[in-house]
Amino acid sequence: MNLHEICRKIATKRSIDDLLNTSKKSELKKTLNVFDLIVIGIGAVVGTGIFTIIGTAITGSAESAGAGPAIVISMILAAIACVFSALCYSEIAAMIPVAGSAYTYTYATMGEFMAWMVGWILMLEYAIGNITVASAWTGYFVQFLKGFRQYLPDFVVNFPIWLRNDYRTMTALCDANNWNIHDKIPYIFGHIPVAVNIPAVVIVLLLTILLVRGVKESTRVASIMVGVNMFMILSFILIGSHYVKPENWTPFLPVAHPFQGVLMGTFLIFFAYIGFDAISTTAEETEKPQRDLPIAILGTLIICTILYVSVALVLTGIVPVDLIDIKAPIAHAMSYVGKDWFAGFISLGALCALTTVLLVYQLGTTRILYAISRDRFLPKSWRLIHKKYRTPHVMTWISGVVVIVCGLFMDLHISAALCNFGTFTSFVIICIAVLILRKTEPDRSRPFKVPLCPWFPLAGIFICTVLIAYSLKTLKTSSIYFVLWLVVGLLIYMFYGYNQKRLEEQGRRGR
Ligand code: ALA
Repeated sequence: MNLHEICRKIATKRSIDDLLNTSKKSELKKTLNVFDLIVIGIGAVVGTGIFTIIGTAITGSAESAGAGPAIVISMILAAIACVFSALCYSEIAAMIPVAGSAYTYTYATMGEFMAWMVGWILMLEYAIGNITVASAWTGYFVQFLKGFRQYLPDFVVNFPIWLRNDYRTMTALCDANNWNIHDKIPYIFGHIPVAVNIPAVVIVLLLTILLVRGVKESTRVASIMVGVNMFMILSFILIGSHYVKPENWTPFLPVAHPFQGVLMGTFLIFFAYIGFDAISTTAEETEKPQRDLPIAILGTLIICTILYVSVALVLTGIVPVDLIDIKAPIAHAMSYVGKDWFAGFISLGALCALTTVLLVYQLGTTRILYAISRDRFLPKSWRLIHKKYRTPHVMTWISGVVVIVCGLFMDLHISAALCNFGTFTSFVIICIAVLILRKTEPDRSRPFKVPLCPWFPLAGIFICTVLIAYSLKTLKTSSIYFVLWLVVGLLIYMFYGYNQKRLEEQGRRGR
């Protein structure tokens, strides 16, 4: 086969009618309504970003300037960066309500090779992002236990640090505290160090079991946790607003590096908005996808922006910028005004928030893998549907085990940066897909349309490209991992996916 032929094959697109037909035959249960979708959206979005990262975004770190009270501007800028992609997601998700999110949309617009690569990149956002959240979960869990130190035995509250950190984090901790690592962790056979984040492993296992039981059951649990988490955030805003001192908002912009501070704040807090696209991964399980997907995607973004800006105003109004805690800023703000008991409840809210992010991301991972394997890029056996629960149980277990195993080796900061890379890339792709479909399928019904096309999708492409370029320049180690990830994806396609697709073609011709 010559090069021209190969290029033609790897650019083979799937027609939208074909995609819609496949989804009609889907064995997944259609049970989700707009409320469930918003729960999934808020569950995926509200988490580490607002409960943890906001602290560093305000105060800054050794490598970056902080935004100070102007974090509010950073949040609005980050929301604007997301809104163009959210509008594009809404248009395509309503037009092609098929599982697989950006992966499926790329297949319809840019062909099989790009589709596989986008699916592979989406795994960075979902599966690798989950590693970050699982690690952060342990941090809040430990803090939550400490809140009960009067009632719990000491071995429970202060369980060994090698049972709550991965090896890389343990090494960093030992370096930071001048500890001898050999005193802090045990060794098997005298050589193999043992450091496992047990709470993270347990929570991922429990959520995997829940997801195998059923998506409706999972969203029911998620809605309870989203309820608790929303209650805590709203209480923080209400109770905290009584302690706001407007003088803490002056100076509003950081004095030394105003521009850099706000931009870095935008970059960091962007993580807090990631997740609304997870809604589109459940398209095939939605009762009325054309109507409900755009409402849920945009609704989630609006609700989260309002909540985030309110939390930021109250937080910076209560605690002077240089006293804001970077590990648990919101809980600490309540301790700062003497409300220790409420700080404990905030930890509970944070745990619920992180649990729902984990749940929704794992749901997203399996639904994208389901679509990828349906297209034969992954083995058929992976998408077996559970006879009783009608969920893709093999896939669910595979994604759970991947998070657990990679979590044993991966550093939280690297997985967070990789998650950002995956998200920026998928946002760019989705904006390009809208532009392509407007040209190739001008007459197809669009229950929702991006206003001011092509300017809004172009603005989305521009903003996300700037963010990718900026982070590639700043985050050297993660950039190398990102490139490695792309190379591994390319090899899997060359040696497995490409051949499988050709076999599928031959099979179709033979019929
Ligand atoms: N937006 C999600 C979080 O903040 C990823 O945890």
